[in-house]
Amino acid sequence: MSALSDERKPISGGVHVAQRHDSGHKHVAGTAEYIDDIVEPAGTLHAYLGLSTCANGAITAMDLDAVRAAPGVVGVLTAADVPGVNDISPNHKDDEPILAEGRSVFNGQPLFAVVAETREAARRAAHLAKVEYAEEPFDVDVAAARASGGRVVTEGMTMRRGDVPGALASARHRVKGSMTIGGQDHFYLEGQIAMATPGEDDEVTVYSSTQHPSEIQHMVGHALGVPSNAVNVIVRRMGGGFGGKETQGNIFACVAAIAAKAFGRTVKIRPDRDDDMIATGKRHDFVVDYEVGFDDAGRISAVDAVYAARCGYSADLSGPVTDRALFHADNAYYYPNVHLKSEPLRTNTVSNTAFRGFGGPQGMVGCERWIEDIAYTLGMDPLDVRKANFYGETGRDVTPYYQTVEDNIVGRVVEELEASSDYRKRREEIVASNRTSTVLKRGIALTPVKFGISFTMTAFNQAGALVHIYKDGSVHLNHGGTEMGQGVYVKVAQVLADEFQIDLSKVKITATTTGKVPNTSATAASSGSDLNGMAAANAAGQIKERLVKFAAEKYGVPEDAVVFEPNCVLVGNQRIDWAEFINQAYLGRVQLSAAGFYKTPDIHWDRAAGKGKPFFYFAYGAACSEVVVDTLTGEYMVERVDILHDVGKSLNPAIDIGQIEGGFIQGMGWLTTEELWWDDKGQLRTHAPSTYKIPLASDVPKVFNVRLAEWSVNKAPTIRRSKAVGEPPFMLAISVLEALSMAAASVADYRIPPRMDAPATPERVLMTIERLKRAAAGQ
Ligand code: MTE
Ligand code: MOS
Repeated sequence: MSALSDERKPISGGVHVAQRHDSGHKHVAGTAEYIDDIVEPAGTLHAYLGLSTCANGAITAMDLDAVRAAPGVVGVLTAADVPGVNDISPNHKDDEPILAEGRSVFNGQPLFAVVAETREAARRAAHLAKVEYAEEPFDVDVAAARASGGRVVTEGMTMRRGDVPGALASARHRVKGSMTIGGQDHFYLEGQIAMATPGEDDEVTVYSSTQHPSEIQHMVGHALGVPSNAVNVIVRRMGGGFGGKETQGNIFACVAAIAAKAFGRTVKIRPDRDDDMIATGKRHDFVVDYEVGFDDAGRISAVDAVYAARCGYSADLSGPVTDRALFHADNAYYYPNVHLKSEPLRTNTVSNTAFRGFGGPQGMVGCERWIEDIAYTLGMDPLDVRKANFYGETGRDVTPYYQTVEDNIVGRVVEELEASSDYRKRREEIVASNRTSTVLKRGIALTPVKFGISFTMTAFNQAGALVHIYKDGSVHLNHGGTEMGQGVYVKVAQVLADEFQIDLSKVKITATTTGKVPNTSATAASSGSDLNGMAAANAAGQIKERLVKFAAEKYGVPEDAVVFEPNCVLVGNQRIDWAEFINQAYLGRVQLSAAGFYKTPDIHWDRAAGKGKPFFYFAYGAACSEVVVDTLTGEYMVERVDILHDVGKSLNPAIDIGQIEGGFIQGMGWLTTEELWWDDKGQLRTHAPSTYKIPLASDVPKVFNVRLAEWSVNKAPTIRRSKAVGEPPFMLAISVLEALSMAAASVADYRIPPRMDAPATPERVLMTIERLKRAAAGQ
């Protein structure tokens, strides 16, 4: 570079530096605009859903006269009022009506929508319906669905390698078991919401709290019977999505849009928390049946497992979710012989959906259960069993889906955490103190995570971005990624600032909208910044190429003498201020706008064969958790957690650490206190924070050390060699479940596999302890 370059100042806001979340200050000040904060157009109406109270049966009568006559009510919509197709199934299976038609297939199913002058009027009127049903038997959970024949909502998947029966038969040891893993409500702070404004002709504008604006656009078009080009969907931010807004926003957006067109006024719909929890899908609960063969050293020779899931009444995303359970049934371990099968079972419950990890967490929890069984059977430290089975050298590096693990760093991550958390010494101390402590028992566990990054549906791995530079040098950024708090907006803005070498403050982040970038994928599978960061870099690259050509010509220098430097451009030995340079380019008639595009290279997947390379790379991590349990009550505290997590070369370490902390705590809630419970009418009874216990500030581990594996560089050519971070840390919380299991196992001197199901609520911890005490006493 030129002699001038020693004057080069670092730009404020490139990549690999901690930047605050672009809206962080607005979140805490209450000035970040969510849909319910948008100034309502004059005459805005409010819709509310009327829900069924029958888990399965024909609707024999639906008298809505009282609803219609209620004060403030403008009208009522039923399935008959859907102008287009009454279906919002994301996979086109035609199994998910917007409003029920003829039958109710779960307790809580939306039957009609009432539209009124105020939200309160609509909400009150919704309860005035008189509905009669011819009730039929129904299945609420996996066991019931199996007992009635095991109908599936979509075809399950199988992965198979080697000779499983042979390897099991010749194994030195075998364990066989079954584990139940609970579901989880998303509990986003901002609930589901949509607001639709009718336009001229067939047009409609929809504000939706969605991770998937293109899907909302498609569904609204489908429901209205208009093409996608008539529908514009806008989302500036969500107050959390966690997978619960990949498809579950569809019904609200469609009802708002149908009502908006029907009444010619803006219509907003926002259910209460209770109705949101009752009427929208959640994480799938699973029952995992397994048999595993292993040797004296704890090395696995064969795994045979069936993952059965409660999918609810329709397919929704249950196919890919149960697939991903199988994709992570190996976690970080090599299985020489393996047979894995998924059973996506149909139940008369709300249709379960995406939730952080997308089935992967359930796959991994099952896997860590058999690791634990092996450890307790052999009297080994579970960490040694884990290490004995890590993917390793050639021959032990192929997954059950035939992808070779090329970027394996699990060994190094685990070893570094083992040292920094002082795991061995603390475990010894805990075992010693458990011998003398009569009521309080401690547990510690160190568990790894290996998580595959990419949508397993290869086509979804594409993204677009739209970048404009205005003639004052300010930059407008738009892309298909949606912001739900995870920081994709600031990360992509950082990429753009780095590309142009301008301050982050010069990049305007704008709301995701289908009118600017079309055919986007859901912001999901943790791939938001991977995909959209690349698309934005591609757009910037196109503009830079034009700028370089222009400057080289105008100043008569070679193209490589045009260099983007912090907030200016060096042309030969002349340094031109960024805004001035851009103005010159404008006057030189250079196109200062570009649409960028990216598709993940080098991935493919054949579902029928169970073979391919579905993932571009893996993200790794490990956590060590210590708990203390009161063996008289089952209550517990998480005393200390140490995490070492791999995000490659971090785009933004502050955001990434936040994702790791948040993901871990959310995972801990899933595996400990969050319990969904349906009664004998198939009614969800845990539909508010009073009965559904999410983690509180007081549940944060007393000591919480979170570090990034700073040495890690993504071997795959991702945006600036970073790795996705949204979902993988969620599964670090498995260490808490394992630590609780160890504390429980101490009452039987660690000789009996504790086999604690999830969630490990205090009740379940206590029951496990009592069971183990009885077993140890030979009762
Ligand atoms: N973080 C916050 N604060 N809020 C969220 O809703 N969703 C998670 C994760 N982190 C979520 C979050 C889920 S389920 C996914 S898939 C990713 O963020 C999606 O965003 P990304 O692809 O940009 O990481
Ligand atoms: Mo995340 S479950 O992929 O939205």
